[in-house]
Amino acid sequence: MKNKLSDNFLWGAALSNVQAEGGYLSGGKGLNVYDTLTVTPEPGIPPMFCDTSVASDHYHRYKEDISYMKEMGFKAYRFSVVWSRVQPLGDEEAPNEEGLDFYESMIDCLLEAGIEPVVSLVHFDMPDHLRVKYNGFMSKEVIDFYAKHVGDVVNRLKGKVKYWITYNEINLVSGLPYLVSGCEQPADMDYPTFFSQLTFNAAVAHAKAVEVIKAADSKAWVAGMLGHCPFNPQSTRSEDLWATQFRNNMHNYLPMDIMTSGELPSYFHNYMAKRNVILQASEAEHQVIHTASKKLDYLALSYYRTNVAGIFENIPYDDITAQEDAIMQDDRRLKNPHYDANEWGWNKDPEGLRLALIDMHERYKKPLFIVENGIGIDEPLVDEKVYDDERIDYYQMHIKSIKRSVEEDGVNLMGYLAWSPIDFLSSHKEMRKRYGFLYVNRTTDDLKDLNRYKKKSFYWYQKVIKSNGEDLDNNIDY
Ligand code: BG6
Repeated sequence: MKNKLSDNFLWGAALSNVQAEGGYLSGGKGLNVYDTLTVTPEPGIPPMFCDTSVASDHYHRYKEDISYMKEMGFKAYRFSVVWSRVQPLGDEEAPNEEGLDFYESMIDCLLEAGIEPVVSLVHFDMPDHLRVKYNGFMSKEVIDFYAKHVGDVVNRLKGKVKYWITYNEINLVSGLPYLVSGCEQPADMDYPTFFSQLTFNAAVAHAKAVEVIKAADSKAWVAGMLGHCPFNPQSTRSEDLWATQFRNNMHNYLPMDIMTSGELPSYFHNYMAKRNVILQASEAEHQVIHTASKKLDYLALSYYRTNVAGIFENIPYDDITAQEDAIMQDDRRLKNPHYDANEWGWNKDPEGLRLALIDMHERYKKPLFIVENGIGIDEPLVDEKVYDDERIDYYQMHIKSIKRSVEEDGVNLMGYLAWSPIDFLSSHKEMRKRYGFLYVNRTTDDLKDLNRYKKKSFYWYQKVIKSNGEDLDNNIDY
């Protein structure tokens, strides 16, 4: 008999608060790395960026936003507690109670609406002071400040929150170091050492967070999270398959291999040994990674697209180390001829999600939770309406793919959270790149009235949730 999505399947959506709240100096909040980030445009995209002072004004309108989530029928909603709202500087003794009050009110509002909160503990929001003074997660002290932050949040919210996510997209620490880990590569350090040390430090931070959460609330469910961007080979040559496997290991799987096994995988040891990397790692740190690995309850992932990997023709294949170094930092943006891309050049590859789920299911043998999936579109509001059929189409295809993974492949999937309930600033501070089921009425330069308007996809997703994923037809009378 085929499996089915369970009756308790956690349908809903997710948001990164630092990209939506605004109120960037209200309520005692300190500046964080997203506030201070100077954006580099995505390749080929003309720059048009916002500051973070107002964003989608979610700080003042979260109750209204949650009422729309209730109307859509959400079972779960993932959001992030902005670190610098709770610890404005990051190294202070006492947390900012006003910040904690704010997130507790948000959770009370969700629970009242019958929506299960899923809370991320760091999502592009490290206090900027920790970046400037300590170089973020390159510093062991910052790992402890983070663990303290986790403790402050969990001790306030325990009992109200069951599902925690330690670290948003932990595999991106060295790819986007400013935003994801609040640091930069020291001038006197080579890239392999930077990559390895930061990967290790983030693994320790994650592990300490797991221990803190479990000590505070033994009933909590804790996950690590992967920003999953699988690579497909540029050809059927074995050399390209090898390059793809190497890239997938180093870019996608490494942190999750560590957090699930409690050990550094042999391919990582090998990578470091060949480059004479000397890791700053204590026995106690290895131990916490090991003990925390036994306590993980589920694994979370985001998925938007696949990319393409392959060897470099201008480097001798025999020079494997040089090939690996080039593959690790490949910015050729190889095209996949089989899939269309969105306006930002991101491949739409729904079946890649099924493959990713099968792969993770077999590799880690833990319940999986998709906590981000969606498409950014530059779309206009016309007569108070947004006909976002491209978004509906994207979601239809991806939801079909996840259903196949459950029904045909037996993947243990807890839920699916779309990205996102409302429009907000993209990770590149783009207001044009809209992800919401609700249109937020502002542009890059004009804050207008910030009112919310239901897009066509709002009604479509409402129907999907109501039918537990059975009715995916785009037959909305809008
Ligand atoms: C994920 C992040 O990487 O991708 C989100 O967790 C982000 O914060 C999302 O918004 C989409 O990326 P972008 O760059 O289009 O905002």
